[in-house]
Amino acid sequence: MKRSSTVLILSGIIVVLAVGLIAVLLFMKNQPAPVRGVTPLMEIAQMEADSSKWGLNFPNQYSTLLLTEGNNTQTAYAGSNPFSKLERDPRLLTLFAGYSFSKEYNEDRGHLNSLTDVRAIARVDETTHATCYSCKSANNPGVWDEMGMEAYDKMMFSEMTPRLEEPIGCANCHEANSMRLIVTNPALEEALEAQGKDWRTFTRQEMRTVVCANCHVEYYFKGEGKYLVFPWAKGTRIEQISEFYQEIEFTDWTHPQSGTPMIKMQHPDYELFTADSTHYKAGVACADCHMPYTRDGAAKFSTHNVHSPLLNAETACGACHTDVKYVTDRVSMIQNQVWATMEATEDALVEAIQALEAATAIADVDEALLTEGRNLHREAQLRWDFLAAESSMGFHNPEEALRILADATNLARQAQIKAILAAGTPDIIQISQ
Ligand code: HEC
Ligand code: HEC
Ligand code: HEC
Ligand code: HEC
Repeated sequence: MKRSSTVLILSGIIVVLAVGLIAVLLFMKNQPAPVRGVTPLMEIAQMEADSSKWGLNFPNQYSTLLLTEGNNTQTAYAGSNPFSKLERDPRLLTLFAGYSFSKEYNEDRGHLNSLTDVRAIARVDETTHATCYSCKSANNPGVWDEMGMEAYDKMMFSEMTPRLEEPIGCANCHEANSMRLIVTNPALEEALEAQGKDWRTFTRQEMRTVVCANCHVEYYFKGEGKYLVFPWAKGTRIEQISEFYQEIEFTDWTHPQSGTPMIKMQHPDYELFTADSTHYKAGVACADCHMPYTRDGAAKFSTHNVHSPLLNAETACGACHTDVKYVTDRVSMIQNQVWATMEATEDALVEAIQALEAATAIADVDEALLTEGRNLHREAQLRWDFLAAESSMGFHNPEEALRILADATNLARQAQIKAILAAGTPDIIQISQ
């Protein structure tokens, strides 16, 4: 009797312990990644610019962020070697004639080089505003909080230089201590608000894309104060962006050959990706490919060594695709196709510019038709530039890339025809083979 009750009690204890253990394991498994792990060693000040301080609590994320400084591998169309885009494709000298991008235009590098690289650009001079620093430093969230973005943007680049010591870091993407992903750039907050969106209601998976939109987007500098604005009030498609710019009559520079008021596009990675790409529609985020989970012994964390996913495709694509070679081959095919299509668009643009230039030189040119031709040139070139300035050579959204380039080629050829009509003779153009 006594013996069997002891057995009963013991097995009871074992069952309770086992259930308890399972419950604890299930609880741990269901914890979202940011709160997994040990309690932070140190309290971090909000908007702390120095990433090494955050790094005491999160050594894996910090040490992988540091790796972005030394990356230098070039891929077929991107990578971290800062090759000259002007040398790769001299047509850009004609397309950007009269604008600073025809002086220097290099491939981008890893996040930790952001401050060094912006300071080394030949385009930056004494007329440049501090606005150009908006995407380059972990000091920004603190400085914006202190003086407001309006005062920041009014300052000159050189005046701001001594205040910014840290390249991109933790404070650009995370709230301290909670470590949740946040919108840190006031221009992004305002652009989302203009569309009736509040990022605080976004899901974690949405934030894994939106956090990159703090910087990887199209933007412009508004008015004398060079206030940073994302042109999204009508939406983030290229047609909606173009319509917005037309309405406010914005221009970056006047093309010296064609006489066209032009607009330059800046890395619209977020806009192209979210324009209903296959991956976006399937719920995939920027961080899934660019910051995949990585293991270091027992630790599992998001790598902060952000670069081309073609350099670590097994981890970057392998989490979802079993045949990694197949999908990376698809990337090459897509990029080659987009590049070839883009070259055809550039040829059409160069010929439109030459025709408009020739028509402008004719004394009794039809000014109304010439203006129509110039407007077509601007619309064609900003569509082309949407893809040229985007970072993935079309991979982020292949269908949208080819749709926009087809449109751009058509508009460029229409511009060329308008120039002929304005001149009253086809003799102004050299017909290409
Ligand atoms: C499905 C995977 C995937 C997703 C999702 C994705 N990318 Fe990419 N991204 C790529 C690939 C592939 C390339 C091309 C890399 C190359 O050509 O070397 C690329 C290129 C880039 C580059 C240029 C890289 C370089 O080496 O210079 C940037 C910047 C970039 N992506 C940012 C983003 C942003 C921001 C988002 C979200 C808005 C995003 N990506 C979403 C796969 C992805
Ligand atoms: C460019 C934006 C960016 C920067 C800069 C950045 N992070 Fe992250 N971080 C992310 C994203 C995206 C995730 C994934 C979050 C998720 O899945 O909820 C993440 C996740 C994390 C997590 C959660 C655990 C994990 O690994 O998934 C920690 C902790 C973290 N980061 C710490 C840091 C620290 C420390 C720094 C600075 C040394 C830093 N991060 C810099 C974007 C960034
Ligand atoms: C605070 C602004 C900022 C944020 C936020 C940011 N980036 Fe960047 N990113 C940059 C800048 C600036 C560069 C170029 C740095 C240079 O060339 O020195 C860059 C470069 C890159 C590159 C090219 C790296 C290389 O080695 O060529 C990739 C890929 C990239 N970012 C992806 C992302 C992804 C994905 C996110 C979101 C998780 C993100 N970035 C968030 C500003 C930002
Ligand atoms: C988080 C999951 C996830 C990651 C990471 C991911 N993909 Fe995908 N990918 C998908 C889904 C989902 C689809 C659409 C359904 C399908 O075809 O399986 C898809 C489709 C594709 C397609 C076919 C697209 C089409 O329109 O037919 C290609 C190509 C592709 N992915 C390449 C890549 C590459 C290259 C990487 C790494 C840089 C990558 N994917 C990373 C989930 C992912």
